[in-house]
Amino acid sequence: SKPVTAPALGAMRAAGQKITMLTCYDASFAALMDRCGVDMLLVGDSLGMVSQGHQSTLPVTVDDMVYHTASVARGNRTALLVADLPFGAYATPQAAFDNAARLMRAGAQMVKLEGGAWLSETVRFLTQRAIPVCAHVGLTPQSVHVLGGFKVQGKSVEGAEQMKDDALALQAAGASVLVLEAIPAALGREVTEALAIPTIGIGAGPDCSGQVLVMHDMLGVFPGHKARFVKNFMDGQTSIDAAVMAYVAAVRDGSFPAAEHCF
Ligand code: KIV
Ligand code: NA
Repeated sequence: SKPVTAPALGAMRAAGQKITMLTCYDASFAALMDRCGVDMLLVGDSLGMVSQGHQSTLPVTVDDMVYHTASVARGNRTALLVADLPFGAYATPQAAFDNAARLMRAGAQMVKLEGGAWLSETVRFLTQRAIPVCAHVGLTPQSVHVLGGFKVQGKSVEGAEQMKDDALALQAAGASVLVLEAIPAALGREVTEALAIPTIGIGAGPDCSGQVLVMHDMLGVFPGHKARFVKNFMDGQTSIDAAVMAYVAAVRDGSFPAAEHCF
């Protein structure tokens, strides 16, 4: 299959083809997800929780992200490789560029950062310097200590309006794609309709342009509490390949997320 590129994501949205994304942290799973047809691999700073065992993503360093990005890049062939800028790595546009450049040298093809309109200058600084950007609003886990927990966002009228304004500002600044995490499904639809760029939802309803899940969650490898938006795709399957293919098929045909996975 053809390599997935940043511009191709816009074409997929325009053609009404749902975009599939999973988190990935090593070469073996990268090869598996790539051959199962996952469009985008996210080296998420969620690795701080699922791989390193921390209670949040805050302890993850740029060095950690570079290490895992290089591993995933060695296993991947055609999926678009996105890497998270971790907590504290994009406090200024110049710092964001320096850290993003390290991720790009390690094999990332796009970087992701968490936050709203305040990041516009940073997003523009990166895109002008040849680094495609995925923005991320809603529940932004790096802000867990400001938010007071891993909570659904955008439930108030003002919160929803703010999120739409943030999304439009990030698009105007040059973001290629926007992750929407843990927001009401109706707001996921509204934000998606307000934008021209694709949206990728995780707990943001079925009307986003695509979906993402943490690989451990969708394979049923989680120690405790299962978030409402998670579905275990190993149920009824006898291999990890089959589970990943079932996820890809369910996102593409719109059967995931179902109402039970939405807020
Ligand atoms: O780090 C991560 O896994 C993420 C996704 C949940 C979007 O940012
Ligand atoms: Na992340």
